[in-house]
Amino acid sequence: MTDLDQMKTDLLAAIDSAATLDALEAVRVSALGKAGSVTALLKTLGGMSPDERQVQGPRIQGLREAVTTAIATRKASLDRAELDARLASETLDMTLPAAAAPQGSVHPVSQVMDELAEIFADLGFAVATGPEIEDQWHNFTALNMPESHPARAMHDTFYLSPSPLRGEGRGEGASASVGVLGDPAQPLSPTLSLEGEREMYVLRTHTSPVQIRTMMGQQPPIRIIAPGRVYRSDWDATHTPMFHQIEGLVIDKGITLGHLKWTLETFLKAFFERDDIVLRLRPSYFPFTEPSAEVDVGWTMEKGRRTLGGSEGWMELLGSGMVHPRVIAACGLDPNEWQGFAFGVGVDRLAMLKYGMDDLRPFFEGDARWLKHYGFSALDVPTLSQGVGA
Ligand code: DAH
Repeated sequence: MTDLDQMKTDLLAAIDSAATLDALEAVRVSALGKAGSVTALLKTLGGMSPDERQVQGPRIQGLREAVTTAIATRKASLDRAELDARLASETLDMTLPAAAAPQGSVHPVSQVMDELAEIFADLGFAVATGPEIEDQWHNFTALNMPESHPARAMHDTFYLSPSPLRGEGRGEGASASVGVLGDPAQPLSPTLSLEGEREMYVLRTHTSPVQIRTMMGQQPPIRIIAPGRVYRSDWDATHTPMFHQIEGLVIDKGITLGHLKWTLETFLKAFFERDDIVLRLRPSYFPFTEPSAEVDVGWTMEKGRRTLGGSEGWMELLGSGMVHPRVIAACGLDPNEWQGFAFGVGVDRLAMLKYGMDDLRPFFEGDARWLKHYGFSALDVPTLSQGVGA
């Protein structure tokens, strides 16, 4: 082997074994740099005879090219290795959540209200609201419960003391002290005129006053539901001083009890997600409906538990009826032209029946453990197509 061949073998081996870009650069300088071994050989070409140069020229140039190519190849592979190492050390795990998982959950009452809004929206009902601090005219009188009406006494009403509110705005947002009077039917002021009565506020005892506000505020046909908080002075396993109702109201021409029953049946089948829901309309009395019907829903024993569906037994669920002509007239509409039906149902009770809670009080205690157990994911928005259930 000539010196040149030996040199080439040595250089290529050194290039191959250069572990870093710096080591490779050192090899390059030692061969191709100003004082490099290959550069020195190239310099010898000038002093050669033409014959000698013809032989040695291509060999030395060949050596230079082989070394240059080998360095380029090795450099590319070292570059890639360095990049790979950097990418591996600098990776960002894009799957990490931006923040810790949310701890909150949707309260069953909110969930059920959303479910009801979804079901009734599909039936063409809009959502209406009214103030929780309500005047007695909307809460009672316009609903055919005049001042002396015994039904007023049944509601265990929270009355607001009249003085701080006199001359102020219309209830909503007004501050007032709340007092429960022994006999709510007894007028607070001995000189109450109709005007005076309008100034006397209560915490609304039901969502029915939203019927009045809706009929006075818009022309029929009307199809609304009104979900919201209501207040009564009551406290045990199934009663809390604040609870939730949802009111339904339809005002149109030619409305019958048949429309009421179909609407309630369709709503309850969708809500409980069972086709075998059976309803029983029992004659009853509410001042604002005539005729009035209390609606029972049938249950059957399944694995020792009462389960909605079928008709082995009945449980009372809601109040309803055909809107009383006097209520329609109180809102300025002609009862000979317009008829309708209404219903009112406890939202908390619906939640308890559907999701299996047997005590109402924890609904309002704000115990995070209860909410964690019975709450719903905020991303679990009820839709009819995916089922409004859990
Ligand atoms: N407002 C009634 C209550 O709280 C419930 C009710 C009964 C509402 C019959 C209605 C109805 O709209 O038609 O006890």
